[in-house]
Amino acid sequence: MKYDISAATLIDYPNIDRIQSNAFATPWSKELIRSAILNGKYDVRVMKVEHKPVAGFYIAHATNGRSNLDNLAVDLHLRGMGMGRKLLEDWIERACLQKTAKLSLQVNTKNKGAQRLYQCFTFKKVRLLSGYYPNGDDAYQMEMPIKQQQVTAKARQA
Ligand SMILES: CC(C)(COP(=O)(O)OP(=O)(O)OC[C@H]1O[C@@H](n2cnc3c(N)ncnc32)[C@H](O)[C@@H]1OP(=O)(O)O)[C@@H](O)C(=O)NCCC(=O)NCCS
Repeated sequence: MKYDISAATLIDYPNIDRIQSNAFATPWSKELIRSAILNGKYDVRVMKVEHKPVAGFYIAHATNGRSNLDNLAVDLHLRGMGMGRKLLEDWIERACLQKTAKLSLQVNTKNKGAQRLYQCFTFKKVRLLSGYYPNGDDAYQMEMPIKQQQVTAKARQA
């Protein structure tokens, strides 16, 4: 399937909101997504495929040589087709270009599917964040140092 990943614009934000509202028990507010698109410190990237305005997206931000994945979701009807993997590859490739030393993310301890995806990319659980989400759910902090250029290649083989 042909796809393209590019910077989100305000045209995309209702679709991002729809996808993440279907994905999370505690989604971001519409206003927060809108602000992230407008704020140059956030990297909001959307995946577009034929016939779908937005198939998936991620939001990341960089501070002190570290890039954190703040949000990632794929349209409910398009999961299991490799799109989450492509979005993660895009994030990692961009972080490598920006000379980022470490990648980090937080994932719900109950979200085994996403944990498996991150493990394919060699992310490791480094700590438990108790009550991290507004509904009281716990998260794992997962991290990966960027030393090797073959990160993406390794994930492709997984
Ligand atoms: C997590 C998510 C982004 C993955 O996107 P996706 O396009 O379905 O994932 P892919 O098809 O690229 O899967 C890549 C790999 O991830 C793992 N994986 C992804 N979803 C999985 C699931 N539900 N169960 C088990 N493994 C899963 C598998 O290892 C898979 O490789 P395989 O198909 O060769 O076994 C998507 O399921 C989603 O939007 N979930 C809801 C939101 C969410 O949980 N976001 C992450 C927040 S931390």
